Amino acid sequence: MKGLILSGGKGTRLQPLTYTLAKQLVPVANKPVLFRVIETIREAGVTEIGIIIAPHTGEEIKRAVSQVDFGANITFILQEEPNGLAHAVRTAYEKGFLLDGERFAMFLGDNVIEGGISSLISDFANHPEWDAQIVLKEVPNASSYGVAVLRPDGSIERLIEKPPVPPTNLALVGIYMFDGRVKDAIYAIEPSKRGEYEITDAIQWLVDHGHRVFPHIHQGWFIDTGKPYDMLEANACVLEELTPSIDPTARITGSDIDKRVTVQAGAVITNSVIRGPAIIGEGAIIENSYVGPFTSIYHRTTVRNCEIQRCIILEDSTLSDLPTRLQDSLIGRKVTLTRNTQRPHALKMNLGDHSVVHME
Ligand code: G1P
Repeated sequence: MKGLILSGGKGTRLQPLTYTLAKQLVPVANKPVLFRVIETIREAGVTEIGIIIAPHTGEEIKRAVSQVDFGANITFILQEEPNGLAHAVRTAYEKGFLLDGERFAMFLGDNVIEGGISSLISDFANHPEWDAQIVLKEVPNASSYGVAVLRPDGSIERLIEKPPVPPTNLALVGIYMFDGRVKDAIYAIEPSKRGEYEITDAIQWLVDHGHRVFPHIHQGWFIDTGKPYDMLEANACVLEELTPSIDPTARITGSDIDKRVTVQAGAVITNSVIRGPAIIGEGAIIENSYVGPFTSIYHRTTVRNCEIQRCIILEDSTLSDLPTRLQDSLIGRKVTLTRNTQRPHALKMNLGDHSVVHME
């Protein structure tokens, strides 16, 4: 079975971060979301992986993925226009990655799911009579997702893409398994109201044409990392799953670090308190600071005389002398956040478009 990862999209809801960084490369627990997706598919035994990329972020994604050995054969497939998830599958057929009649697993490159997908993949492999398998999860805000209506016997009656008033709270998770019949579906459907070829409509087509689509209801957590809040939530969930470790090259002095903290190579921690689950990146410097639970500090970032909690701080940033605790925040690369020591004692900011600042 092949794996197809969709890694296009503009990431508008994660701006300003995504002006300069592909949304799938934003790290949770110090690893880009896309890398977690690739590893999940690889762990399920899939070694032929295609990644759909978009023109504006494709090169960056290629570069980042190519630097890591995932133990898989990875093909990049350019989707010229953002015409929807079903159109991405069509592109994978037209560019020769997917062959007619082949079974494949498709995973959205910005989804994070508890427990991996090995059991889903083996379920699908063990049921050659299934034409497709979808994954559903009960969520409180179903109108942000594709939504499923099931019949009393558990089979699928209807799927609707982002209905304003959702008929159920069963959301489609961005993990799908198909056999070759999906090809007919993606060529048969029309664009939706938002002008995209929706995978949800293609699956509805399969149901309407009597094909067997099996719904699996996922019990663990699932997060679509589309918005900053979701990113922080995914970060918290993944940090809880991590097996903590302290790299032998890290230098820790005069600090109180609990058991649920991971410290990566070359990090230097001095006179600080770190409460896990948390992760401190390679070459990061933490000095006279408190780092609270659910925080990820990425590579080469410095935190000096600060208190921070439940944050994601990307690489090469500097946080120093903050007068209050920084919490629930997502901070980009090469950001400087410090106290103003010169008069006038006013706030001085240099923020990019779409930045959000909440004052105390
Ligand atoms: C896509 C799908 C939607 C699905 C969601 C899961 O939406 O269109 O059906 O529920 O992924 O993350 P998007 O997040 O691309 O708007």
